[in-house]
Amino acid sequence: MKRSMKTFIALVYLIGAAALLTAFTGVSNAASSPSKTEESNIISATPLGKDDCLKCHDKEPRDISLDGQKHKTAITCLDCHEGHRPRSPKNIPECSNCHTGKPHYELQGCLRCHNNPHTPLVISIAENVTDACLTCHTEQMAQLQQNESKHTKLSCSKCHREKHPYVPECRECHTTPHTPTMTNKDCLSCHQVHKPLAVTYSDDTPSTSCAACHDTAYNLLVASKYKHSKVACAACHKAKHKMIPLCQDCHGIPHPSKMMAKFPECGQCHGIAHDLNNK
Ligand code: HEC
Ligand code: HEC
Ligand code: HEC
Ligand code: HEC
Ligand code: HEC
Ligand code: HEC
Ligand code: HEC
Ligand code: HEC
Ligand code: HEC
Ligand code: HEC
Ligand code: HEC
Ligand code: HEC
Repeated sequence: MKRSMKTFIALVYLIGAAALLTAFTGVSNAASSPSKTEESNIISATPLGKDDCLKCHDKEPRDISLDGQKHKTAITCLDCHEGHRPRSPKNIPECSNCHTGKPHYELQGCLRCHNNPHTPLVISIAENVTDACLTCHTEQMAQLQQNESKHTKLSCSKCHREKHPYVPECRECHTTPHTPTMTNKDCLSCHQVHKPLAVTYSDDTPSTSCAACHDTAYNLLVASKYKHSKVACAACHKAKHKMIPLCQDCHGIPHPSKMMAKFPECGQCHGIAHDLNNK
């Protein structure tokens, strides 16, 4: 809390105490000397206390009571609303009276997102917000920029829309998955959303997922009578999309070096990995 806030709160207490005191003397004066009724009426215009607001306002006290968060526990109505109309017609505070010192507090239009100051953490996000997110989250932007894709051009709130921190499912926008049975979890097993073209996956990724785009390879492989047909695509093309393995990674050099000198390519005899000269 800013020092000015503390001073302010101290002041409120002081005023409160003074009010109590005058109220007390007011009453005793009235009792002992009826000639002072007029003065007592004036004095009884005690400054509003924090419990008085409820007498006339329903909505704001209810909002604060239900979801006021630290605006309920750390401060009272009076810390924000200093005075009341008609004497103090301008009693709506600036957020910057109390919140300063972070880039986030330099944003314009706090109420755009925190649209009700009485429920400060109920936040609604408009379309096309990116810069404001960067006052707290920088890693995702870095990923998006270092891995250029069509997602880089979208605003953060195109995906994380309306409520903070809403997380969308891929299919809200991508309505035709590579295979009909793919779940959102599957999408994330190959794609990281802030760098969607850097596809990586684990060894146990089902070959049918690859088949969605590589039906030639898939058909060759499953039709082969050789043992590669039992090996998953992702077990050979390990971890990273477009990686091509070497036969030697798994088999070493299984033949005499004389033979290999004459026929240096495995494929010269075995054809391609997907069918191994299946006939
Ligand atoms: C005796 C009734 C009464 C009490 C008690 C009362 N208010 Fe008000 N308040 C009003 C009225 C009437 C208005 C004007 C409403 C309007 O213009 O629609 C108002 C308006 C306001 C506004 C809006 C000011 C503006 O310029 O638009 C604020 C803020 C406010 N009150 C805060 C408080 C707070 C905080 C308390 C407790 C400390 C409080 N009120 C206690 C009757 C009251
Ligand atoms: C964190 C500061 C803060 C606290 C605490 C706070 N308010 Fe407010 N209040 C505001 C701000 C800012 C606005 C103006 C909102 C706007 O412009 O939409 C406001 C607006 C209002 C209004 C006017 C609403 C209208 O529709 O014109 C009333 C009445 C009000 N507050 C009453 C209260 C009461 C009663 C409490 C305590 C139960 C309270 N406020 C606590 C900051 C606060
Ligand atoms: C009279 C001082 C005061 C004013 C004015 C004020 N706040 Fe606060 N606010 C606080 C304090 C104190 C806290 C709790 C400590 C902290 O987080 O800094 C707080 C906390 C918050 C929180 C976090 C709530 C939580 O429970 O973690 C948000 C969000 C917030 N304020 C937004 C706003 C916005 C937006 C405005 C302007 C509409 C505003 N505040 C005006 C004093 C104020
Ligand atoms: C683009 C939307 C947006 C705008 C504009 C915005 N905020 Fe926030 N604010 C957020 C989000 C989102 C959070 C994170 C809430 C959470 O932690 O759940 C947040 C959190 C906060 C917090 C609590 C956490 C912290 O870091 O202190 C305060 C206080 C706060 N905002 C004050 C402000 C103030 C003051 C302004 C105006 C200068 C403002 N905000 C403008 C979206 C916004
Ligand atoms: C004032 C700081 C602040 C701002 C501004 C802010 N956030 Fe956050 N955000 C947080 C914090 C703190 C968390 C972790 C706590 C939580 O989940 O509420 C979070 C969590 C998230 C999450 C994670 C949800 C999850 O389930 O893992 C997403 C997504 C997110 N924010 C998106 C955004 C977007 C998009 C924006 C801009 C519109 C934004 N945030 C603005 C502070 C902020
Ligand atoms: C194309 C949609 C999309 C865009 C654009 C996007 N996100 Fe996300 N974001 C997601 C999804 C989906 C997740 C959940 C990922 C997961 O569960 O692995 C996520 C997760 C997050 C998280 C939680 C932590 C993490 O990294 O997984 C944060 C924070 C976040 N996003 C912030 C941002 C910010 C800030 C921006 C803008 C710079 C942004 N996002 C842009 C869809 C998007
Ligand atoms: C809010 C909508 C939205 C969400 C949610 C979303 N995307 Fe996208 N995504 C798009 C748009 C728009 C494009 C560009 C499409 C085009 O131009 O054809 C795109 C493109 C892509 C691309 C191709 C990128 C390129 O540069 O060619 C991939 C891969 C992708 N999305 C994966 C995902 C995954 C995985 C998820 C979930 C984790 C997801 N998206 C969530 C809107 C979204
Ligand atoms: C087995 C891994 C894998 C899974 C699971 C997966 N994808 Fe993909 N996806 C890819 C690969 C690889 C590409 C092609 C990338 C390239 O062109 O470099 C791709 C491309 C895309 C594209 C770009 C346009 C296109 O169709 O070529 C989008 C959009 C996309 N995926 C969305 C999704 C969504 C949504 C899901 C979940 C329903 C998903 N992906 C699941 C691997 C996968
Ligand atoms: C959404 C479609 C899509 C999916 C799903 C997909 N790929 Fe691809 N794949 C492509 C595209 C597009 C290319 C580039 C083709 C080109 O360059 O001719 C490619 C290229 C390849 C290449 C060849 C690279 C080269 O240098 O010729 C391999 C190997 C490959 N993918 C393996 C896989 C594996 C393994 C899977 C499953 C884990 C998979 N792909 C899933 C679309 C996809
Ligand atoms: C990721 C590891 C891997 C890679 C890379 C690989 N293989 Fe294999 N290969 C296997 C496994 C596993 C078997 C089955 C072994 C067994 O069950 O005894 C196998 C079996 C074979 C067999 C025997 C087939 C049969 O049905 O008896 C031949 C021949 C073979 N591989 C040749 C190759 C050639 C040529 C290449 C390169 C084009 C290659 N392999 C790349 C893992 C691999
Ligand atoms: C000159 C032809 C030729 C070349 C070049 C060749 N192979 Fe072979 N390979 C064979 C023949 C013939 C067999 C035995 C076939 C059979 O048993 O059906 C065989 C068998 C194998 C087997 C199965 C061994 C077993 O015990 O079942 C593997 C694995 C293999 N080769 C891998 C390779 C690799 C890796 C290379 C490249 C480094 C390679 N071969 C190069 C002809 C060749
Ligand atoms: C036993 C290891 C192995 C398995 C299993 C395997 N591949 Fe391959 N793949 C290779 C090798 C090695 C190459 C390079 C060409 C060659 O030397 O045979 C290759 C080449 C490719 C290519 C690029 C050339 C072309 O044929 O288009 C694609 C795409 C591909 N594989 C996709 C797949 C898919 C999809 C699967 C599963 C259906 C799969 N592979 C299963 C080892 C394998």
